[in-house]
Amino acid sequence: MNDRRQKILQHRKSLPIALVEKRLVDEVRKNNTLIIVGETGSGKTTQLPQFLFNAGFCGYGKVVGVTQPRRVAAVTVAKRVAEECGVELGQKVGYSIRFEDVTSSSTRLKYMTDGLLLREALLDPYLSRYSVIIVDEAHERTVHTDVLLGLLKKVQNARSRSAKHDLNVGKSNDGTSVMEKENDNLCKGTDKQGQGGKFLPLKLIIMSASLDARVFSEYFGGARAVHIQGRQFPVEILYTLHPQEDYLDAALITIFQIHMEEAPGDILVFLTGQEEIESVENIIQERLRQLPEASRKLLTVPIFSSLPSEQQLRVFTPAPPDFRKVILATNIAETSVTIPGIKYVVDPGFVKARSYDPAKGMESLIIVPTSKAQALQRSGRAGREGPGKCFRLYPESEFEKLEDLIKPEIKRCNLSNVILQLKALGVDDIFGFDFMEKPSRAAIVKSLEQLFLLGALTDDCKLSNPVGCQMARLPLDPIYSKALILASQFNCLEEMLITVSMLSVESIFYAPRGKMDEARTAMKCFASPDGDHITLVNVYRAYDEFFVKRKLQLGKDKHGKVLRKWCKENYINSRSLRHARDIHSQIHGHVQQMGLCISSCGDDMLQFRRCLAASFFLNAAVRQPEGTYRTLASGQIVQIHPTSVLFRSKPECIVFNELVQTSNKYIRNITRIDFLWLTELAPHYYSMQD
Ligand code: CDP
Ligand code: MG
Repeated sequence: MNDRRQKILQHRKSLPIALVEKRLVDEVRKNNTLIIVGETGSGKTTQLPQFLFNAGFCGYGKVVGVTQPRRVAAVTVAKRVAEECGVELGQKVGYSIRFEDVTSSSTRLKYMTDGLLLREALLDPYLSRYSVIIVDEAHERTVHTDVLLGLLKKVQNARSRSAKHDLNVGKSNDGTSVMEKENDNLCKGTDKQGQGGKFLPLKLIIMSASLDARVFSEYFGGARAVHIQGRQFPVEILYTLHPQEDYLDAALITIFQIHMEEAPGDILVFLTGQEEIESVENIIQERLRQLPEASRKLLTVPIFSSLPSEQQLRVFTPAPPDFRKVILATNIAETSVTIPGIKYVVDPGFVKARSYDPAKGMESLIIVPTSKAQALQRSGRAGREGPGKCFRLYPESEFEKLEDLIKPEIKRCNLSNVILQLKALGVDDIFGFDFMEKPSRAAIVKSLEQLFLLGALTDDCKLSNPVGCQMARLPLDPIYSKALILASQFNCLEEMLITVSMLSVESIFYAPRGKMDEARTAMKCFASPDGDHITLVNVYRAYDEFFVKRKLQLGKDKHGKVLRKWCKENYINSRSLRHARDIHSQIHGHVQQMGLCISSCGDDMLQFRRCLAASFFLNAAVRQPEGTYRTLASGQIVQIHPTSVLFRSKPECIVFNELVQTSNKYIRNITRIDFLWLTELAPHYYSMQD
C-alpha cells in the first residue's frame, strides 16, 4: 500500500501542472474569474482542486466545487483524488451526481455534474457553501454548462456586490496576504449568511481543453486566461482510402489488425453509445474464440456514462501481462477521462448528438460526424505516454470537410428543461437572460409553449403552483415529471415510477448477434400487446417476483450475481436493469417527499394506458394507410422501430417517447391508445388542434 502511495506521489509530481502550482494559485488569488486551458492529461481536474485546498481555499468549512458534464468523469476523478489524498471517498473528497450522493459534512473537494450544481442553486441561490467553483470541460458546451455559466455569472456579481460592502467596513493596510484577508472574510461570510445575506466573492475557474479561450474570456468581461503546457508525443494519423459503408465493421477489422500486427500498447475505440459498445464487445469476444489460443490475449473494457460506478474504474486497471486492452468508449474518453497506456486510437469519426427542430417541437438523437476539434482530441489520446497511431476510418478528404467545432448543445436541444429550472431559480425573463450563446427565439417560444401545455406555467408565464413547482423539483425531463404527477391522480404511480426509471436507461433488452431468435422468444414472455411501456413494467416486476420468491437474503455481491444470471437467461441487459433499479429507488424517494400518492392500478392496465395518453399527448401519432405514422403535433412521418413490441401489430393510434433518426425516422417506446382519449384527457390541446 505504501508502495502504491509512493507511486502516486511520484506520478503527481511528474504531471505538467505540478510545475506551475504556485503560479496557478497566485492567479486564482488575483483573479475572481480565471480561464485555464490545458492539454488533456496535464492534471487540471485531479490536481488543481488539491492545490486550492492546500492553499487554504477551503478554510472555514468552505467547499471547492468541480463540475463535469458527465457522471462517469465526476465519479472516477473523485475516486482518484480521494486515493491521492489518502482519504475515504465521501469524506474530504466526494462526488454528487443525479441519483447518487457520496459526500458528507466534511467534504471539501466536491466533484459533481454541472446539472447537479444547477439543482443545488435551487436550494442555495448564492451557492454560499462554495468558495471556488471550477467549471471543467467547458469546451464541451453542454446545455448544462452553458446555463451554469450564465447562472454563475449572476451569482458572482451578487456575491461581489455584497462582499465589497463587507470589505470596505473591515479595510486594512496591514500587509496581510490576500488569502488571510479572504479567510477572514470567509469567516464573516459564514457568520452573516444566516443573518443578513452578505457573501464573499465567488471564485470562478473555467477549464477547457480547447485552445480557444476567447469565447469564455469575452463572456466574462475579458477574464484572464492561462495556458498549461502539455506533453504530447507524435501521433501518426492513418486514413482509409475510401469511405466506409459500415463503420462498426471497419472498426472491428482495424482492432484485430492492430492486435495481430502492431507492437504492444492498448487500443482506444470511439463509438457512439452503449448499444454500439456492447455489440462490438460481443463480436470481439466471438471472433477471439475463433483465434488460436496464443492470439486471444485481448481484453475488452467498455466505458460509457450509464455504466455502474464500480465497473467504470475497470478502464484504469492495467491489462494482465501479455494482454492487450481494448477500451470501447463513447466520446467521454475524448477529454473528460484520461486513460493510461493508450497507444492506438480507432476513430470512426462519429458522435451521437441531440438535435432539435423548433418548428416541429421534436428533439431527436442523431449520429453525426465529429468536429475537427474532436478528431484532434481523439488522436491526441494516442500520444500521451509515447509515440502512437490513430486510425481514422474515413478518407483524408473527409477530414477537411468537418466543422471546426461542434455547435453548442443549447442551440440544438429542447429547452423546456432549462427554462423550467431557470424559472424555478427566479429567472422569469428567459429572453433577457445573459446566455453565453443565445438559443433561437423560436426554440425558446416553442419550449415555453410546451411547458404551458404541460401545465407547468401559468398564463403569464410564471411557474404554476403546485404542478410547475413540483415538476421543477424532480430531476427528470419535464414530460416525465408531469407523468409522475398525473399518475398519482390516476392511481398508477407505482407503474409510472417503473416506466420512467426504465425509460431513463438505454436498451433494457439485449440481443447478441447469432442469438436473435432466442432473444426474441425470451422477450415474448414479457411482451404486452398494448405496447412497450407495459412490457418494461413486466420485466421489472418479473425480476422482483423472481427475487422475492427465492427470498434471497443476500449481500450486495451475491445479489449482483443473481441479477446477472437472471438477466442472461432472459436476454435482459443487466447493467441497464441495475441502473434502472437505482434510479427507481431515487425517484421513489423524491415523490414520497413530495407527498404524492403512491399506489398501483393492479391489473387495470387500461387505467395506466389512459395515464400514458394524458402524459405523452404531445407525442401522439396515427397510422397512415401505408403503415407509417403521422405525429399529430408536428405532422412528421415516422416509423415504429423494429425493437418495439408493436412493430408488427401497428395499432391505429399511439403515444411514444423517443425519436431516433438514422436513414429513417424511428419512434421507440410506444403504447397503443384510443384516439378519443386524447380529446378527453388533453382537451386544451386537441380541441385547439381540432
Ligand atoms: O484534467 P486533465 O485532463 O488535465 O488531467 P487529469 O484528469 O487531472 O489526469 C491527470 C493524470 O491522472 C493522468 O495522467 C491520468 O492518467 C491520471 N488519472 C488516473 O490515473 N486515474 C484516474 N481515475 C484519473 C486520472
Ligand atoms: Mg480533466
